[in-house]
Amino acid sequence: MLQRVRFGPQAMNNNVNHNVFHVFIIEICRYPLGMTGGQIQDEDISASSQWSESTAARFGRLDFDNGDGDGAWCPNTMSEPQLSDGLKEYLQVDLRSLHFITLVGTQGRHADGMGKEFAQRYRINYSRDGNSWMGWHDRKGRQVIEGNRNAYDVVLKDLEPPIIARFVRFMPVTDHSMFVCMRVELYGCEWLDGLISYSIPDGQQMVYSGLSVFLNDSVYDGASAESSGAKYGWGLGQLTDGTWGLDDFLHSNIYGMWPGYDYVGWSNESFHRGYVETIFQFDHVRNFTTMKVHCSNMFSRGVRMFRKVTCFFQSGSDYEGDPVTFRQADDDVNQAARFVTVPLGDRTASAIKCRFHFNDLWMLISEVAFQSGNCITNYKILIHCNSISSVSGDDPTHKVDDSNTRILIGCLVAIIAILLTIIVIILWRQVWQKMLEKVSFTLVLLRLHHSDLKLTVFADVRLLLWFYALVHLCEAENMLDFVDEDLSLAGIDESPLLVAVKTLREDANKNARNDFLKEIRIMSRLRDPNIVLLLAVCVDTDPLCMITEYMENGDLNQFLSPPNPQTKSGTEQRQISRMAVQITSGMKYLSSLNFVHRDLATRNCLVGKNYTIKIADFGMSRNLYRGDYYRIQGRAVLPIRWMSWESILLGKFTTASDVWAFGVTLWEILTLCKEQPYCHLSDEQVIENTGEFFRDQGKQVYLPKPPRCPDAVYSDLMLSCWRRNAKQRPSFQEIQTQLLESSP
Ligand SMILES: *[C@@H]1O[C@H](CO)[C@@H](O)[C@H](O)[C@H]1NC(C)=O
Ligand SMILES: *[C@@H]1O[C@H](CO)[C@@H](O)[C@H](O)[C@H]1NC(C)=O
Repeated sequence: MLQRVRFGPQAMNNNVNHNVFHVFIIEICRYPLGMTGGQIQDEDISASSQWSESTAARFGRLDFDNGDGDGAWCPNTMSEPQLSDGLKEYLQVDLRSLHFITLVGTQGRHADGMGKEFAQRYRINYSRDGNSWMGWHDRKGRQVIEGNRNAYDVVLKDLEPPIIARFVRFMPVTDHSMFVCMRVELYGCEWLDGLISYSIPDGQQMVYSGLSVFLNDSVYDGASAESSGAKYGWGLGQLTDGTWGLDDFLHSNIYGMWPGYDYVGWSNESFHRGYVETIFQFDHVRNFTTMKVHCSNMFSRGVRMFRKVTCFFQSGSDYEGDPVTFRQADDDVNQAARFVTVPLGDRTASAIKCRFHFNDLWMLISEVAFQSGNCITNYKILIHCNSISSVSGDDPTHKVDDSNTRILIGCLVAIIAILLTIIVIILWRQVWQKMLEKVSFTLVLLRLHHSDLKLTVFADVRLLLWFYALVHLCEAENMLDFVDEDLSLAGIDESPLLVAVKTLREDANKNARNDFLKEIRIMSRLRDPNIVLLLAVCVDTDPLCMITEYMENGDLNQFLSPPNPQTKSGTEQRQISRMAVQITSGMKYLSSLNFVHRDLATRNCLVGKNYTIKIADFGMSRNLYRGDYYRIQGRAVLPIRWMSWESILLGKFTTASDVWAFGVTLWEILTLCKEQPYCHLSDEQVIENTGEFFRDQGKQVYLPKPPRCPDAVYSDLMLSCWRRNAKQRPSFQEIQTQLLESSP
């Protein structure tokens, strides 16, 4: 049985009947925050104590085993008797700014087999300001997290609910005096919302036909009403947890929680003024454009969106006199929960007080987000915000106009920098192409210890295409001795032969090594005129390497896109459809083996002599085309613009999802790769569109018909590749027949 490349997010197998949005918001915000990668500086890692200088806090980095340390952070647990709960010791990470943290990872001290200490259990404390600390607990109130079982495996723990914090402490829990050592990583993304706390009246309990519906803010981390005795606390909770309530508030996104869990709600009986007052505090003075409030509108159960909201703004010491009021028409038709967008009129404030007026017996809210300046201040859309918000200033005293100018300058600088980078890349590529033509540069010999195969590296391609893994273009002199006899069919007779040699870095970790071997295993089984051929491998000594055919015209994306002189002179329609047919033919072969490619796109098709097309993938192009992939779950990246809805939402990859990707690839070919699919949509919007495919209410957006595409090819072929029901999509055999019929 063939082994399949797996990079789909396992956690996405969640039940989609529950809100799909919850799944992806929490899913996308899972970047490693830099313990392993080094973005977190040594001085930002501290600890209550250390056993020795070589087990100091700075060695507590996950998957980090070398350097001058002993392989982990180990506290000095033996010097004093343990406290009863064993919570004296902690490893603290300062992230320098607020972060939305969704996942943590821990590991013990391995030190190449010398270490055997690890933390079986631990707790997490966090702080936004470094002064007041809160203990994390899960949705059921449990604080202790099950940690490691051995000294080397990484144990990942989803933080449900996620944490918004700048400082995080890992606190090993030990019940007897044993040595404990830890290496950790935090995963999440920067919290650019600017909202540092909110204060709302306690949510209430509704009784709906005998059923108790608890509408309290159960993950709120500010002081709660009971303990402080005050009406309000200051903290963050369900309104910022990235979980939006379902249409039917009796059900929850989160498995096993009580009715009403996702919402905070109030009854008009307890608010005689007719409104609920809420206060939102921000990190500094901001210029607010809108507020988005996710509300229930289940009027059949006495719940409606607010009738109007009045917001007061505070930038100095008091709230200003002229509030902004937004009124909303009743919706007596649609009971769906929704985001209501409240315009805030570009008002300046560091705190906003909003009064939400009842429109029925109950008012239920599940999420609130603010948009200020040019930034949509929601972690979901933070990619656009990053550069702007860092320019928009931390200085609470600056004037608004001043900050706008700075934003503008920041944007201009960013644009200029991007343009310069593009120019450099284009020039660089041209230089490289010229060099390849002349073949008159230094030859470097690749060391392949045990082999008689003589490989002469043409160019140290690594220098020019620094994005790659190590990929070399080589001239192989006696290749024929190495390949199976039946391979001579592929025209491998002339000697010397140009080949591509991919080697694995000698310092690569175990995962990269396994991926590399897996790729070799997969490729070695594939033999088809339209699949790139693996010629030889070197697996028993380092460096691991694989030698594949070299396709002289590069990848199809570069080949077709406008600057290419060959296409400028007009790649005929006939050539175009020949290319498409060849891809179909290669895919037909893969599907006959039940092999799912998962990443079909023009960038993964290579072009040889006479418009020969061969399908590749195998990880080589991923970095060069970084913009085509979407980072998810820490390190994995996904080509979402080519993926079927079920692959994105359910993590399901089948031949039918390859057919979907073929539809997109065909679209690319027919548009001559002038633009990225859905180029006017952001990655987040692409995923939202995926949700529309899932819901199938006619709101999904399809790629448009390319200008030179015959009507029949678009409506009969492309659109059929994007059918919601995977079973109704055509097979590659059917696609090939159709293409051959429609070709000129
Ligand atoms: C919210 O209500 C649930 C159900 O009664 C209860 O278990 C939980 O402790 C409450 N949380 C808060 C913060 O009051
Ligand atoms: C609460 O809302 C209901 C329905 O709109 C209304 O009949 C009732 O008078 C309201 N109660 C109060 C105290 O405002």
